[in-house]
Amino acid sequence: MCGIIGYVGTEDAYPVIIQGLKRLEYRGYDSAGVAIAGDGVHLYKRKGKVKDLEDYIGPEGIKGKLGIGHTRWATHGEPEDKNAHPHRSMHGHFIVVHNGIIENYVRLKERLMSKGYRFSSDTDTEVIANLIEYTYLKGNVSALTAIRLALRKVIGAYGLGIICTDEPDKLFAIRKGSPLVIGIGENAHYIASDAPAIMEHTRKVVYPDDDEMVVLWNDHMILQTPENHNHKPVVKILDQEIGDIGKGSFPHYMLKEIFEQPDSIRDTFRGRISEDPFAIHLGGLYSVLPALRYAGRIIILGCGTSWHAGLIGEYLLEEFAHIPVEVEYASEFRYRHPVIRKDDVIIAISQSGETADTLAAIRKAREAGALVLGICNVVGSSIPRETEAGVYTHAGPEIGVASTKAFTAQVTVLTMIAMLLAKEKNLIDDRSFHRFIRELKKIPEKIRYILAQNNDVIRDLAEQYKDVNNFLYLGRGYFFPVALEGALKLKEISYIHAEGYPAAEMKHGPIALIDENMPVVFIAPKDDTYDKIVSNIREVKARKGKVIAIVNEKDRTISELATHVIEIPSTFLALTPLLAVIPLQLLAYHMAVLRGCNVDQPRNLAKSVTVE
Ligand code: G6P
Repeated sequence: MCGIIGYVGTEDAYPVIIQGLKRLEYRGYDSAGVAIAGDGVHLYKRKGKVKDLEDYIGPEGIKGKLGIGHTRWATHGEPEDKNAHPHRSMHGHFIVVHNGIIENYVRLKERLMSKGYRFSSDTDTEVIANLIEYTYLKGNVSALTAIRLALRKVIGAYGLGIICTDEPDKLFAIRKGSPLVIGIGENAHYIASDAPAIMEHTRKVVYPDDDEMVVLWNDHMILQTPENHNHKPVVKILDQEIGDIGKGSFPHYMLKEIFEQPDSIRDTFRGRISEDPFAIHLGGLYSVLPALRYAGRIIILGCGTSWHAGLIGEYLLEEFAHIPVEVEYASEFRYRHPVIRKDDVIIAISQSGETADTLAAIRKAREAGALVLGICNVVGSSIPRETEAGVYTHAGPEIGVASTKAFTAQVTVLTMIAMLLAKEKNLIDDRSFHRFIRELKKIPEKIRYILAQNNDVIRDLAEQYKDVNNFLYLGRGYFFPVALEGALKLKEISYIHAEGYPAAEMKHGPIALIDENMPVVFIAPKDDTYDKIVSNIREVKARKGKVIAIVNEKDRTISELATHVIEIPSTFLALTPLLAVIPLQLLAYHMAVLRGCNVDQPRNLAKSVTVE
């Protein structure tokens, strides 16, 4: 949620900042801005995308060796030029970019106004800029001391990049509760909300702790604890691939990421499952395997699509590892009074590793003494750093705001964990275990086949349904979470109202909505409840609803009943969600494109939700 970037070095800052902002744009994209210190400090900001800002500034760019930039997801104040960052303090001594939310900004603003401060935006960030300046001028202290003292009065979350116009050779940065990474280059330093924004410049990074003050020059840095002690930064080397973050030949990131799933799933299990000998290796879980094995209960935490992956994890872990599982919205868990027992294990799932609610829920669980594990995609993000152990998904950078390949990678990891525990607990015989591993390895090819067979078919289908206002998605068992995910994809990017429901629950409400205008997507591959879902389809047909059914190849019964069928290959039931979700991703994608929506950057959403 909001991306910040900064550079100080011997090269021109502007191209580094603009390039970094483009990489951070998935975090927010309603406005963007830069401040560059060269011959004076020049500040440009604009409502719209980074490209709009770039066009506004023009091809000459801005000269200067130090700069900060911001791409915004509005929290306080509408997306307008005046609310875009950076924000300059009233007397011009400080310029600030901010990711996070200041909870007590109204009180601080009133106090500053009573001292004569005037504000030109509706943001909480301008309050920070003015509060620092007020402290600086009133106390006649250094910029560093002013920042430190001012932030003591601030309640909330922040990742900040700060320029003091009186000390234009330094870049200040500090975080509390919002992500921030420092990059160490050749005669250069960088700050960013996350590592991919700076990885093309350096792989040497430092993750400051909450409230650690960072001061950067081109050739050295200071890291200072909240008690004002300088300490040696712990430098980490990032070894992940930057990944191809272009769209390649695809018109949108989302379509590219849908089509990447055969590879991203293979990357997620590569080196972790073997046939000779048959085994599952999850190195990140070795140290906690006994605790997992004897867990009395697993609580899965997540938000959005990651929560849906968690629901599939519940079915997997209960079926194969025989461990009771609860799946919780992190945002609810953090404010309840959850009963956490000694033998509970918490698994937090997050693509970004930065979701504010998930992080807060983790902290709550850890305070209660629980063992907390993470399943994350972004290496080095906050959740992996704040959990005892975990598994990375290796899906590669996901840029489209609607999650696709990260979801299937999360489900793949949960599948491996469930099977690993089944094996450890002797709950599965060797033959079944071997067959499962072999079948898991076939999933990427089966997805490739679905994509090849169905993309055009689904585009034609989307053409027929693109103007409807409502959609219903129904499934049972493993396919109930898939129905939820299908509905979420559609509403996120096409703005069509869509609901996911357990198919049997249809009779307790949604059936009232069904008429000849209501398309109902049934996720209906063969399982134990197949006959029941056939009855549900008949009930919809009897009310003239249009049925789009996801079925296994060679399905006869539903094929005769449904208005449209989309076929997927057969596999083991527990692996079928990985296949069944693919047509739903494509359906949402094509509907959104045909409706003229911005597929990769849907309105009001952001990829990484680092505010409550
Ligand atoms: C946002 C994104 C979703 C994502 C959710 C949780 O809403 O748009 O795609 O599922 O956050 O994010 P996380 O990074 O924790 O998986």
